[in-house]
Amino acid sequence: MNLHAGDISIKIDKRYLNFPISGQTERKQMTFSVKGLPDLTVNIRLASGSADYWVFRDVSELKGKTLTIRYNGEDAALKQIYQSDEIAGQDSLYREQNRPQFHYTTRRGWVNDPNGLVYYDGEYHLFYQHNPYEREWENMHWGHAVSRDLVHWQELPVVLCPDEHGTIFSGSAVIDYENTSSFGSKKNPPMVAIYTYSHPDGQTQGIAYSLDKGRTFTKYEKNPVINSTRKWNSHDTRDPKVFWYDPNKEWVMVLNERNGHSIYTSENLKEWTYRSHVTGFWECPELFELPVDGDPNNTKWVMYGASGTYMLGQFDGRTFTPEAGKYYYTKGSIYAAQTYNNIPEADGRRIQLGWGRISHQGMPFNGMYLLPTELKLKTTKDGVRLISMPVKETEQLFHQVEKWSDLTADDANRKLEAFSQSDCLRLRTTLKLTYATDAGLSLFGQRIIEYDMNGTQLNGVFYSPQDPTSMELTADIYIDRTSIEVFIDGGVYSYSMDRRTDRNGNEGFRFWGNQIEVKSLEVFTVDSIWK
Ligand code: FRU
Repeated sequence: MNLHAGDISIKIDKRYLNFPISGQTERKQMTFSVKGLPDLTVNIRLASGSADYWVFRDVSELKGKTLTIRYNGEDAALKQIYQSDEIAGQDSLYREQNRPQFHYTTRRGWVNDPNGLVYYDGEYHLFYQHNPYEREWENMHWGHAVSRDLVHWQELPVVLCPDEHGTIFSGSAVIDYENTSSFGSKKNPPMVAIYTYSHPDGQTQGIAYSLDKGRTFTKYEKNPVINSTRKWNSHDTRDPKVFWYDPNKEWVMVLNERNGHSIYTSENLKEWTYRSHVTGFWECPELFELPVDGDPNNTKWVMYGASGTYMLGQFDGRTFTPEAGKYYYTKGSIYAAQTYNNIPEADGRRIQLGWGRISHQGMPFNGMYLLPTELKLKTTKDGVRLISMPVKETEQLFHQVEKWSDLTADDANRKLEAFSQSDCLRLRTTLKLTYATDAGLSLFGQRIIEYDMNGTQLNGVFYSPQDPTSMELTADIYIDRTSIEVFIDGGVYSYSMDRRTDRNGNEGFRFWGNQIEVKSLEVFTVDSIWK
């Protein structure tokens, strides 16, 4: 880049650059240049006066180098950027008032879809759609966090930044044990990320590899590896989910293209052949095999898109053949959930992580990840269906402090009085209705459970229990500072929502409905994952 008046140059000797952000300022282009490296351009609302909040860029890899910043907004704003070994607000990090306490959130900025979920060498990787420069969607990068137990997460530096092919949209990651891509060796197999480039000319698919356990990635110099925009006459060709299909000894990609999910295959992750297409899905494809009721000789394949509505069917490595229409198993704030690749065979679980479309009032970050869940196929009264329950690793966070049975609603409400101001809480309860009308549980007027037996609806969505004449409903309820997740009757249905922040009034928890019985009620305290 040629220098202009107003550009600033900083010799990097600290870990972070801190940027002041104002929601009132228009987004303007900022370009970072370092000699010998590609430029990075982002759109940012840099504050020239006082900031609403601060964001940062981790520049530790640039130590000793000179970084030039060009901004086509106000010069006064540029002057507020400073480098430091701490991010602005470091002293209250993870202790901010509306920071979720048992869900992963990023330190600063916006997050949406989980990407590249892969287990490798003792670590669960969570890459994700991330705007490091604002708490709204823009400038898609891949952020990164790792965990050894799916519960405690450590945020690591961003791994993929926008480049001349576009911003980095959703995708997946695999471990290439056979080194089919020749990016590594069999001794040090590459972790390969397969993702979408979003560009005004259309969306294409790119790949990048890591030889250091996902800490840094090198983009493939011949990107993009798929460009199907013209074929589909569509800008919407995105979100590759790749996995190894052992019977054919090849890679399979499920890619959303315009009106559904396509299947591609490859021997080396670089050259892909189109195979088939299933209509009726939008964004963020998934495809995986699960045993029915745990029987490995009786399996079905599950295909879903970003909404989580799924089809069951069979897959032969080239074509997915649905056996019926779509079903749902979860609703609410969840979107774009993805499942882990490379879970060891001895474990064998299908572990899912979903984006929670939840905001945190007044916070310099936005969005979160819901509790990781294990997906299973179970024979239900309606046939085989997907069920979802929090993974067993989450149990370490919850400690049972009360357990009652056979209470009247009034008794239960009195017993819960002590907990209504709790920051975080888990409740497990079985309600028994004595009228086929509606009943439920609310917290400061917010309906956590609203079960309308007459309309056969649970929080507005059709739900009928396994025993068709049952008057009972069991709910496992996870309440964090800004979110509520509810798992019904062992996970046959689940939903999530924002937690309302107004905690006034004297109502607290309230079981309501015509003469209902609270057959059981358990209360658990919750540990924070941020130590
Ligand atoms: C889904 C989605 C994806 C896309 C990404 C962009 O939420 O729209 O289809 O890759 O988000 O951030």
